[in-house]
Amino acid sequence: PVLLLVTAVLGYLLGAIPFGIVIARLFGLGDLRQIGSGNIGATNVLRTGNKLAALLTLLLDAGKAGIAVAIGRVTLGEDAAQLAGFAAFLGHLYPVYLGFRGGKGVATFFGTLLVLAWPVGLASGAVWLVMAKLMRYSSLAALVASVSSLIWVFVFGYTDAMLLCAALTALIYLRHAANIARLRQGTEPKIGAEKKATA
Ligand code: G3P
Repeated sequence: PVLLLVTAVLGYLLGAIPFGIVIARLFGLGDLRQIGSGNIGATNVLRTGNKLAALLTLLLDAGKAGIAVAIGRVTLGEDAAQLAGFAAFLGHLYPVYLGFRGGKGVATFFGTLLVLAWPVGLASGAVWLVMAKLMRYSSLAALVASVSSLIWVFVFGYTDAMLLCAALTALIYLRHAANIARLRQGTEPKIGAEKKATA
């Protein structure tokens, strides 16, 4: 149990690293929280126009969650892997380093699933890509992709991960409340558009 707690805390601390803010600062793009939606994720880094910085943010935010899952798996097994992934996800959403005001969890969702149940992660990622290509809304793509994971766990036989997928998806929806409101009003900025939005 102590080791399980250590794994969870480590997962949380890893997940709480706001790579979007770090990368934006390193690239001289300013404070991400003052840009676009104010979110700390790769989508908002992309609004600065720097694709490399956005890609790095995506990879690092996904990677930190994947590493947390891998640590949980090698130390204690699958249950610990799930716990570590969940902890990393919570870390990204509620980071201690940023006064618990973090991101929306999309990259960390993919990083968690790619290591925990890779076919589910890949299929959900493919849904994101198709939706993003068709509709040009990052948030909408994430909303559809995350809920699709609940289908993929059955298709690929990862029902053990169903509860985790449901929890992560619910939190993603919660964190996209402002995006959902903008999508309904038709004011959500499309990928590649320069338009500024708040929250
Ligand atoms: O990854 C988060 C994305 O789904 C929405 O980000 O900046 O458009 O609110 P943003």
